Amino acid sequence: MTKRIRTICAALSAARVFADVGCDHGYMTRYMFDRNLCERAYISDVSAGSLRKAEALLKGEVEEGRCIPVVADGLDGIGEACDLVLIAGLGGEEIVRILARHALPPRFVLQPMRNSGKLRAHLLERGAQLDLDYTFEDGKFYDLIAGTAEGGDCYSDFEIKYGRDNLRSPTADFLHYLAKEKAKLRARLARKGFDGPSRDEMRAKLYEMEVITDAAEGDL
Ligand SMILES: C[S@@+](CC[C@H](N)C(=O)[O-])C[C@H]1O[C@@H](n2cnc3c(N)ncnc32)[C@H](O)[C@@H]1O
Repeated sequence: MTKRIRTICAALSAARVFADVGCDHGYMTRYMFDRNLCERAYISDVSAGSLRKAEALLKGEVEEGRCIPVVADGLDGIGEACDLVLIAGLGGEEIVRILARHALPPRFVLQPMRNSGKLRAHLLERGAQLDLDYTFEDGKFYDLIAGTAEGGDCYSDFEIKYGRDNLRSPTADFLHYLAKEKAKLRARLARKGFDGPSRDEMRAKLYEMEVITDAAEGDL
């Protein structure tokens, strides 16, 4: 298990019906069954080839009818209400597209690969509450967002952009993320021969990240 998978699993809680959307290998559903955290689970993937890996890993539960494999786009093939839905390793815009076609699951754990801000904005527009919202490092940087369909959370623009827990209780991983992003921006700004609005946007972004770093280091 990679740190990314362990971090996602640690955010999963007990559920009657669990769904692992874009399950691929099925490790997270394996985790749920091994710890008796769910009665029943749907493993869903748009690719039949990917789903076969999860079916092999969960063969016993599939044979017992406790694990139901579905080849489907997002939540489309899941024929019953799930109280906990995991969608990990997909782009934030793709996760929004999947969620937008259904009622929000009562509880969700999401790990978008990019566009986390768009995903946060979508969840908040729909009245969700975000209980976990932070960046962690496992070779690359990942965001973890977990919460409930109800609760009506309210975020500032900065929190939507960077993740609320990162700003409220910054971790060493988040500071490392900021340091790397700032270094990339500085390297781009040092290149000659380009000017204009994109340069101004980069300067503004660098300044914003410096302010956040200063505030975060003050908190650590
Ligand atoms: C990078 S893997 C992530 C696997 C696992 N969830 C994880 O986080 O390690 C992405 C998986 O999502 C599946 N996928 C992509 N778009 C999907 C969609 N719209 N609905 C269901 N599965 C999808 C892919 O086929 C692939 O197996």
